[in-house]
Amino acid sequence: MTPDLLLEQDGLREEPLFEKIIEDLSVQRYSIVEAFFNPDEVALLRSTLLARYEEDQFRKSAIGDHFNEQIRSAVRGDFIHWIQERETGPAERVFFSRVQSLVTYLNRTCFLGIAEREFHYAVYPKGTFYVRHLDMFRNDDRRKLSVVCYLNEDNWDPGNGGELTLYLPDGDGERALDIYPFPGRMVIFESQVLEHEVKPVKQGERYSITGWLKTR
Ligand code: OGA
Ligand code: MN
Repeated sequence: MTPDLLLEQDGLREEPLFEKIIEDLSVQRYSIVEAFFNPDEVALLRSTLLARYEEDQFRKSAIGDHFNEQIRSAVRGDFIHWIQERETGPAERVFFSRVQSLVTYLNRTCFLGIAEREFHYAVYPKGTFYVRHLDMFRNDDRRKLSVVCYLNEDNWDPGNGGELTLYLPDGDGERALDIYPFPGRMVIFESQVLEHEVKPVKQGERYSITGWLKTR
């Protein structure tokens, strides 16, 4: 089979999945996809994350400019590494090619106008969390969709904590939806609409790639 035909087959497999994501987003403003990456891809992405972590390429996440360390740690405790798209290896190529297929589909079918993307690896050591927030900066509303892909080991257990909690409007109030960071799982939600938090990690280290699809 020629590479073109293989690609077309991939496209055929992806379309129903992308349709479900669009349907979910329009109805409930978030979508959860199991096995967005297969176990081999998750293992490759995780080992790449860990290699960069060991090379000391991660930094404590920031929250605005003028917070001191104590305040920062009280808001979020993760370590992150922004992925530079010009210096990517095989793992990141797999990652961005899947994400780009989704973006192309979203732009074609929903006219979302996604023109930019930014992604970072994240490590949440035991005891760390990220308090409730919205993924929007005060002077920048270009982030439209938040995307989180979990790269944990297969044995991640709900007892490990580290769940992503989405706060969903519900009648006059809201309801909390807990999403455990199981490997291969991808969560996508409207950045400017859904508040969310990462609950404390009680056991192990929590690995992910998180990023944003943005308009220009
Ligand atoms: C973030 C975030 C969620 C998660 O980095 O802004 O909300 O599940 N991450 O890691
Ligand atoms: Mn967030």
